[in-house]
Amino acid sequence: MSSLRFLTGITPSGTPHLGNYVGSIRPSVAASFRTDVQSFYFLADYHALIKTEEPARVQRSTLEIAASWLAAGLDPERVTFYRQSDVPEIPELTWLLTCVTGKGVLNRAHAYKAAVDKNTAANQDPDADVSAGLFMYPVLMGADILMFNAHKVPVGRDQVQHIEMARDMGNSFNHRYGEHFVLPEAVIDDAVALLPGLDGRKMSKSYDNHIPMFAPREQLRKSIAAIVTDSRAPGEPKDTEGSALFQIYQAFASAEETEALRQAYAEGIAWGEAKQILFERVDREIAPMREAYMGYINHPDKVEAILQGGAAKARAISAPFMTQLRHAVGLRKLSAQASTAKSSKAAKAGAPSFKQYREKDGQFYFKLVDASGDLLLQSPGFGHPKDAAASMAQLRSDGFAAWSAAHGGGQLPQGATLEALQAALSSLAEA
Ligand code: TRP
Repeated sequence: MSSLRFLTGITPSGTPHLGNYVGSIRPSVAASFRTDVQSFYFLADYHALIKTEEPARVQRSTLEIAASWLAAGLDPERVTFYRQSDVPEIPELTWLLTCVTGKGVLNRAHAYKAAVDKNTAANQDPDADVSAGLFMYPVLMGADILMFNAHKVPVGRDQVQHIEMARDMGNSFNHRYGEHFVLPEAVIDDAVALLPGLDGRKMSKSYDNHIPMFAPREQLRKSIAAIVTDSRAPGEPKDTEGSALFQIYQAFASAEETEALRQAYAEGIAWGEAKQILFERVDREIAPMREAYMGYINHPDKVEAILQGGAAKARAISAPFMTQLRHAVGLRKLSAQASTAKSSKAAKAGAPSFKQYREKDGQFYFKLVDASGDLLLQSPGFGHPKDAAASMAQLRSDGFAAWSAAHGGGQLPQGATLEALQAALSSLAEA
C-alpha cells in the first residue's frame, strides 16, 4: 500500500517553458516512478482565470501543458493526472475552507500584497484592479492540496507561503470539525527551484524572459542566443557566478559537463560558443520529447480522453471525501439529522457495529451494519485477521474516503448510501 502522497499543480496560462520543465515537470515525472509514492498532478485551470481573461488561451495552454507533461514521460496509469475544473469538489471545498480562513491571513499573501504595494506606490486605491479571485487564490490552492490529503507538495520557493496557508486551513478545519485533513508540507529542491530566464531574473511567463520548452530546434537556438551576457570579449575569463547561461546549462548537464564548462569560462570561451554548447545540450534532452509533444498537440482528443480518465480516478477519492466533509460541517440530509437526534435512544436499541468473520474461502472479512442490521459496508478479504483489524481501524480513524482510496476505491453494497455510512462512522466515533 503506497501511502505517501505527492501533489502538484501547474497553472495553464501560457506556453510551457524550460523553467516549468526543470522546476516542475521533470522532477514530477521522475518522482512518479517512485513506488513508495502516490502522485497527483493537475492542471490548475481555475487558477488560470485569475491571470488571463482569454478563454482560447486557457484552453490552448491546458492542452500544451498536458501534452508537455505526457511527452516528458508522465504515465497516467501510474499517477492521477487531471484537470482541476473536472473535479467540482475542489471549488466546493474552497468554500468550506474560506469559512475557516482569516481574512487577515489572506491580506498577507505575497501575490495580493505585491498588487497592493504596487497600487500604493502609484498613489492608487490599494485594491485597484485587484480581483477577489487574486485575493482568494491561496484558498483555492489549499483546497487543491487538502482535497487529496497530500503529504508533500513540490513547489518553487515563491509558493511556500501558500503551502503554509493550506496547512493552517487544514489545521483550523480539523480543530473545529475533527481530524479530516493531512497537514501538507512544501518540498523544495534547491538544485532546480530557480531557473533564470534570458535576463537573469527567474524564468517566468510574467517577465517575458522565458525559453519555450518545445520550440522547433531553430527557434530554440534563437531563444538561447538571446540570453543576456556581459560584454567580455573572447579570450577574457568569464564569471560563472551570476551567469544565467551557466545556470541553465547546469540544470541540464551532468556534474562533469558542468565542470568542463566552468573550465571553459575560466579559459575565456566566447559567449557565442558557450551558447552553442548550451543549445546542443538542451536540445539533446528535449528533442526526443518534441515528437511525442507534437503528436498530442495534433490530437487533442487523445489528451482529453486521458484527462477524463484522470478525473474519474480523482473523483473516486474527492466525491466520497466531500460527502464526509459536508457531513462534518453540518450540511446534512434532514433525515440523517433525525437519525442523529434518535441516536441516544438508538444507542440502547442497538448502534451501528462492526462484525468480523471468516468466509469459506479462508479469508478474513469485516462489515459494518447499521442499528437495524442492514449492511452499510463490506470489506475485501484479508489473508490474516490482523490485516482485517488494521483495515477496520483505518476506516474508523481516517474515514471512508481514505480507506477506499487505500483499497482501490471500495464499493458500497446495494441499497447502502454514503450518507448512512458516514453517519454510522461518526456515531461510532462519538460513542
Ligand atoms: N499556484 C501554483 C503556481 O502558480 C499552481 C498551483 C495551483 C499549485 N494549485 C496548486 C501548486 C497546488 C501546488 C499545489 O505555480
